[in-house]
Amino acid sequence: MSTRIVLSSDHAAIPLRQAIAAHLSAKGFAVQDIGPTTPESTHYPKHGEAAARIVANGEADLGIIVCGTGQGIMMAANKVKGIRCGVCSDTFSARMIRQHNNANMLSLGARVVAEGLALDIVDAFTGAEFEGGRHADRVNMITAIEG
Ligand code: RB5
Repeated sequence: MSTRIVLSSDHAAIPLRQAIAAHLSAKGFAVQDIGPTTPESTHYPKHGEAAARIVANGEADLGIIVCGTGQGIMMAANKVKGIRCGVCSDTFSARMIRQHNNANMLSLGARVVAEGLALDIVDAFTGAEFEGGRHADRVNMITAIEG
């Protein structure tokens, strides 16, 4: 089965989110784009939470969320139990948050990274696997903080 990836954003990041959706679909991922699709101002916490709940519920394997900086929507997503989301503006970090932190969500800043780099970051994230081992102990420590 294809890796299932849920996408969401706020109003500041609709074109980048749609470019990511097209890019991932073309690569064969099962993309669930939950919007928004219209450009009026909206609130990033609800969009970050919505995508995070889909990942936490097991309806998607990974989530990619986008706002102006990637920061606010990441903060909202990380409030959902079971979510490990990092903001990345470089490919090394995007690979490492999968390999070492078992991140299940990636956040991007549409006002920070241009589309070409953003798609490379997405590829680094989706192309990497969690290494387990000593890293699993540390990820379990993160989970324990959730209570
Ligand atoms: C919206 O103007 C902006 O605050 C939002 O997209 C994001 O950057 C917040 O972290």
